Amino acid sequence: MSTLPTQQSGSIAVRPKTTVLTLQAKRDRGEPITMLTAYDYPTARMVDEAGVDAILVGDSLAMVILGHPNTLAVTMDEMLHHARAVHRGAHHALLIGDMPFMTYQATVVDAVRNAGRFVQEAGMDAVKLEGGRPMADTARAVIRAGIPVQGHIGLTPQSVNVLGGYRVQGRTAGAAVALVDDALALEDAGCFSIVLESVPAPVAAHISGRLRIPTIGIGAGAGTGGQVLVTHDLLGLFDDFRPKFVKRYAELRGQIDAALREYVAEVRAGAFPEDAHTYPMPEAELAAFEQRMAGGFADRADLADSARAPA
Ligand code: KIV
Repeated sequence: MSTLPTQQSGSIAVRPKTTVLTLQAKRDRGEPITMLTAYDYPTARMVDEAGVDAILVGDSLAMVILGHPNTLAVTMDEMLHHARAVHRGAHHALLIGDMPFMTYQATVVDAVRNAGRFVQEAGMDAVKLEGGRPMADTARAVIRAGIPVQGHIGLTPQSVNVLGGYRVQGRTAGAAVALVDDALALEDAGCFSIVLESVPAPVAAHISGRLRIPTIGIGAGAGTGGQVLVTHDLLGLFDDFRPKFVKRYAELRGQIDAALREYVAEVRAGAFPEDAHTYPMPEAELAAFEQRMAGGFADRADLADSARAPA
């Protein structure tokens, strides 16, 4: 599906499907690109209807949805399950499937096959993979197979054990130069965009100015071509930990807690359900029902016979 009508202040406007070319055009015009994560149908609908340019089915779902301590445990099949739900909910944004740990690192063949599964089995438009120059040949092969690739450098959470924790990357001159080299290698490989995660703002701005393709920052300052956040962080739904770069636009966890506690209290107090939440019955039918039940039944077989008898 390429376009869907949307209601805009009383008139029907058509919002076209976002493609990699749309993102490139935005970058060329200097218009900031917006990207958010989604892992399920209702969130995908809301994020899409809010007008974001790209939705990432991020492997962050391992932590945010599945409760793992890091992103390493989530499997390709789990990612596909969530990506399919997102595809059912979002019709405009560019949909990007995040290649999970060990689905592209071992061999290029793995990478092409698994990227293909995101497109063929889950309706994703593109994939994202972590790593700089060492991953450039892998990205090139996936792109050659016809699948757009978004790179991801800086803090790459799948390498948390090599990095020794979730740390800002590119803080020394040498590390910053290496990041520039990684970004150029991914651009040369044909990536349509690169995520820069937890990188000092001046380094991210330098890389963004150096590349022709758009950069999308998370914890990388305002000098990138766009921004991405984990939606659950932005909404205040995930509070196991809170990176410095997260801005909370809502505190939904608190609102949800209050609503759930109110439900429990109302059911216990007999305050819910009220008549408004209850299905009535025609009075004559109720009277007939009460009359039949008042007759009493010797056993359950009598009751079953009565149920089958004509009214
Ligand atoms: O998995 C994810 O959500 C990500 C974003 C943080 C870029 O990779």
